[in-house]
Amino acid sequence: MTNSLTPASDFPISQLADLLTRGFEDYFVPIHIDESVFLTMLRRDSIDLTASRVILKDGEPIGIGLIARRGWTSRLAAMGIVVNARNGGVGTWAMEKLIEEAKARGEKQMLLEVIEQNTAGVKLYEKVGFQKVRRLVGYKIENPQVEVRHQLEEMDIYELARIVTRHGFSDLPWQLTGATLAQYTPPARAFRINEAYCLISDPSSADVAISSVLVKTRSRGAGLSRVLLRALFANFPNKTWHVSAIYPEEMAFIFEQVGMKREDISQWQMSLML
Ligand SMILES: CC(C)(COP(=O)(O)OP(=O)(O)OC[C@H]1O[C@@H](n2cnc3c(N)ncnc32)[C@H](O)[C@@H]1OP(=O)(O)O)[C@@H](O)C(=O)NCCC(=O)NCCS
Repeated sequence: MTNSLTPASDFPISQLADLLTRGFEDYFVPIHIDESVFLTMLRRDSIDLTASRVILKDGEPIGIGLIARRGWTSRLAAMGIVVNARNGGVGTWAMEKLIEEAKARGEKQMLLEVIEQNTAGVKLYEKVGFQKVRRLVGYKIENPQVEVRHQLEEMDIYELARIVTRHGFSDLPWQLTGATLAQYTPPARAFRINEAYCLISDPSSADVAISSVLVKTRSRGAGLSRVLLRALFANFPNKTWHVSAIYPEEMAFIFEQVGMKREDISQWQMSLML
């Protein structure tokens, strides 16, 4: 039995999407990655297929490690091993190689997020040296009843991304950074009320994701995020609103004060200095 790694860029997208889906079989949330979802991940998250690896055992693909890169920082965007090859040391072996490769590329830091309840994942990443930065939490609310009192002003998503880069925490999780948000395009939409800003997925769907919420530093503490979220709920009624578990726990109050309920699944944001 010999393990080896090969660049993901040598494989067709359809095969990579299929391998990722199989790598996440029996996961905490159902995962199905088709080609279009995979291509969106690549674009939004800056995944570099030439640095990403397909994991082979005796020449057969058994897993995948996706690596995203920005400047001196890389991120393990996903790592999945097919069910019958798990818990045999392949994950640990592959992670050690991916870390060596990141060092050899001259990178200084590697980041990832892992579901807190994912014992194998957390154990693996801590074993190879990753440390917890903070807990990331998610929220949900179904059909909140709010009357329209404030008008939302629509804005260019790209402008919102610039504001997040300037005013957001410097160590935001990858998916909340301005660099990620700049890759969102319609039908996603961005809105503001005064100095409070948000980005949401297509609000004509029954389920809407809140992909960013930001209040400029000088306007914090005045309840603006609550005004903004309530205005969203009022302007787009009869929706289920989702906040995926990528928000720093210190931002949780924003969602709690508008009655959203915390999701059972939370994540650890983790970092390794290379
Ligand atoms: C997480 C994953 C990548 C780990 O790969 P793996 O090849 O199974 O990992 P290893 O065999 O090297 O095991 C890593 C550690 O987790 C432990 N472990 C493995 N499976 C476990 C399980 N089901 N429950 C508890 N611990 C487990 C191992 O014992 C090992 O710890 P040890 O060195 O102290 O013995 C793999 O299980 C997987 O693909 N899971 C589904 C997708 C996923 O969760 N990806 C990670 C989030 S991005």
